[in-house]
Amino acid sequence: HWTPEEKQMITSLWAKVNVAECGGEALARMMIVYPWTQRFFSTFGNLSNPQAIQHNPKVLEHGKKVLTSFGNAVKDLDHIKETFAHLSELHCEKLHVDPENFKLLGNVLVIVLAAHIRKDFPPACQAAWHKLVAAVAHALALRYH
Ligand code: HEM
Repeated sequence: HWTPEEKQMITSLWAKVNVAECGGEALARMMIVYPWTQRFFSTFGNLSNPQAIQHNPKVLEHGKKVLTSFGNAVKDLDHIKETFAHLSELHCEKLHVDPENFKLLGNVLVIVLAAHIRKDFPPACQAAWHKLVAAVAHALALRYH
């Protein structure tokens, strides 16, 4: 369900992404803007204020891991469900993450990418990325269905 233009826009933007930086920032921002998401990360230490979250090494490390994993969707856009089947099982059945949170993180991620990449992220490319984060959120939630 991708047009060749969408695929091209998604992969060419991905080539410009600093995964460690944007991944850490996206996870931290999710926890700051939607503080109830912090409850899943009680083992990560000090999350008491935005400053602490933004500099928490476990948050940054995990954000990098999450965005690296997200990159597997970019590499194989036609098999997103298969790519995340195992992670869906983990998040749904073991971690019990409410699937609404996948959408929240996806939206924060698009904002972080826009803030970093700025002029190389035109509206059509943002639209393709919104479609991508929605597809990943859907794939991660499949085990609930
Ligand atoms: C763990 C990916 C969204 C909560 C993980 C892991 C990956 C991952 C790769 C590590 C799995 C392993 O160790 O085998 C993703 C992706 C997401 C996403 C691609 C969406 C784009 C979320 C959201 C939450 C969440 C929205 C909660 C609000 C967790 C938790 C762990 C985890 C609690 C275990 C952390 C730990 O204690 O090490 N995720 N995740 N994830 N994820 Fe996600």
